[in-house]
Amino acid sequence: MFHYEPKDLKVPEVHRLLLGGVAPRPIALVSTISADGINNLSPFSFFNAFGANPPIVAFSPSRRGRDASLKDTYNNLLATKECVIQSVTHSMIEQVSLASTEFPPEYDEFIKTSLTPIDSDLVKPKRVNESPFQMECKVLEIKSFGNGGASANMAICEVLKFHVAEDLFINGIIDPVKIDLVARMSGDFYSRAGSDLFELKMPGNKKCIGYDQIPEHIRKSEIYSANDLGKFGNSEFIPDETEVKLFFQKLLQEKIDDFEEGYEAFLRYQRLNDYRKMLKAVLNISKNRKINIELTVKCALQNNDMDFAWKAALSVKNIK
Ligand SMILES: Cc1cc2nc3c(=O)[nH]c(=O)nc-3n(C[C@H](O)[C@H](O)[C@H](O)COP(=O)(O)O)c2cc1C
Repeated sequence: MFHYEPKDLKVPEVHRLLLGGVAPRPIALVSTISADGINNLSPFSFFNAFGANPPIVAFSPSRRGRDASLKDTYNNLLATKECVIQSVTHSMIEQVSLASTEFPPEYDEFIKTSLTPIDSDLVKPKRVNESPFQMECKVLEIKSFGNGGASANMAICEVLKFHVAEDLFINGIIDPVKIDLVARMSGDFYSRAGSDLFELKMPGNKKCIGYDQIPEHIRKSEIYSANDLGKFGNSEFIPDETEVKLFFQKLLQEKIDDFEEGYEAFLRYQRLNDYRKMLKAVLNISKNRKINIELTVKCALQNNDMDFAWKAALSVKNIK
């Protein structure tokens, strides 16, 4: 590990660390209007949502790194106390990147980027038509931390009105693929957030047993990954011995069409992700039984079949 205290680093080095480690970051495309009525549009990835009641979002139009001057967005927020924040989709990212150019304050960045301004309902700054998710906001507070280059000016805003494209919703939830958001990573990298999704249920009110309650022979296995053990830890119950016995009795009696015995068949079932047949095949292979059962458990875990995984995993307790 490298170890750093910010006081020992140059500001751009600290900035680069944050950009790399605090990622992926959502991007706020912020529309403001100057006291003279000129539209401004700029992206900010030091941005997030912080609560829903009332809906609070915040972003940081920091001081410029090169000369510690204040950005137009900051000046506009201070003057008008309003903005519209829009989410950034993949189809608009080039225009959004263009909006980050340091155009002089008298330039209208809607014209520069060819993004389409539409009137807001409750605030003066315009909305960006191309974004399917827009939030009209009032500025509650701007909290500044320092006045050197790249110091933060956290603009804390309350959302007064959401505008969301109707076709984004599936069963009342904004579909991550349909909205196709992009996020900022380190360097010049972005991530297309909807293209590498996986689902993971939150524990919520579940009374999870936790890592420490997983039986030792499972915890000490060399086959299970930290995520595999995490799935066991996320369970509420551990099956008892009788349940495990019954499970194996049933499996032994079960007639499965086209079932073949032997190690070759076990490997084929593993390739097919068929953990039930894997386990049935393992029961007739004496060599490496513990490892083969654990590989079967892994396969069941990948398929989120926790009942099967537990019972198979518990069965290897006394196998060397
Ligand atoms: C994707 C992206 C994210 C950015 N995030 C930030 C940020 O969080 N804070 C910031 O001060 N500047 C950020 N910038 C740079 C500003 O967008 C840039 O300084 C912009 O020109 C400010 O414009 P303004 O002076 O019109 O407000 C980002 C740029 C890009 C392309």
